[in-house]
Amino acid sequence: MSRPRSPNGRASSPTPASRRSERSMSGAPPRIGFIGFGEVASHVMPGLRAAGLTDVTVCARRQEARDRAAGLGATASADIAALADRDVVFASVPGLAAVDAARSAAGLPSSVLYVDVSSLDPAGKRAAAELAPGVFVDAAILGSAVERGHRVPLVASGPGAARFAELFTPHGMVISVVGERPGEAAAIKLVRSVFVKGLEALYVEAFVAARRLGVLDTVEASVAEFLDARPAKDTAAMLLRSHLLHAARRAEECALSARMVEESGLDPLLSAATATLMARTAARIPHPDVEGRPTVAQSVALLDESLGDHR
Ligand SMILES: NC(=O)c1ccc[n+]([C@@H]2O[C@H](COP(=O)([O-])OP(=O)(O)OC[C@H]3O[C@@H](n4cnc5c(N)ncnc54)[C@H](OP(=O)(O)O)[C@@H]3O)[C@@H](O)[C@H]2O)c1
Repeated sequence: MSRPRSPNGRASSPTPASRRSERSMSGAPPRIGFIGFGEVASHVMPGLRAAGLTDVTVCARRQEARDRAAGLGATASADIAALADRDVVFASVPGLAAVDAARSAAGLPSSVLYVDVSSLDPAGKRAAAELAPGVFVDAAILGSAVERGHRVPLVASGPGAARFAELFTPHGMVISVVGERPGEAAAIKLVRSVFVKGLEALYVEAFVAARRLGVLDTVEASVAEFLDARPAKDTAAMLLRSHLLHAARRAEECALSARMVEESGLDPLLSAATATLMARTAARIPHPDVEGRPTVAQSVALLDESLGDHR
């Protein structure tokens, strides 16, 4: 391909953006960069390199992180300008630092695909998108990067989401495009966290109380048996259906659980909240119209329509 001509007729030096477009037309693998080199970047980057994306630059604040990145085959720098020739930049920083990271990267070329994988709320992602250079991707990680490396499942939204999936799926990344606006992927991540982190918190409260009461082994085995008894989708449908039918009596049982947890010397943060939630359903839906085996969607619709707006 011939280089663009400058006004004086000589071949002009290619800019980073023109080099990028030449590369993308030639089908060359994208050159990638990372802002931040913590747990995610250091577990995703080696898999991407092994999958053929060998040209990696990392921008990290601490020498120790730069040394680790260099040890894994990347070029490392403390200067954000080192990412100026990248086709794709991953911002892999704590959620509350994502807006700062986008601001610090604002001077990168407008052709860059800026993939923000931080865990941030939808408004935060939209703020980062306003400041970030190039084409923004709101990417949310649904799993552990430590366990799954670059194959950890991601949801992606924003103007660059489809391009992101097109570029990285062939290299083994698992990307579901969920929308065109920044914030849509973040919403999925954070509402999923209500469940996943809530389950984690339930394990903490229930199992510490169980240990204090000397029944941990039996409770652990019984919980495992409950979770293993049926497919997760059936468990969700069963729990939501029986919640509608039995919330009133469960409120009483959970209030007793909360009292027992408290007597064990532990703040009954979740068991008390569970009792409150059960009582709320019983008060709002005193005569649930539940026939047969409602699906998850049907039970949730009834709850949604009955619980009102608490803002
Ligand atoms: N770890 C996982 O498996 C996982 C799963 C799902 C989602 N996530 C999300 O992915 C994001 C990254 O997670 P992580 O586990 O890699 O975090 P981490 O281990 O804490 O690493 C964060 C990196 O960001 C850098 N950083 C912090 N503030 C910065 C700023 N203002 N500008 C530039 N760099 C900055 C840190 O540098 P310093 O060391 O200098 O502070 C560090 O290198 C987070 O939003 C996290 O919630 C992680």
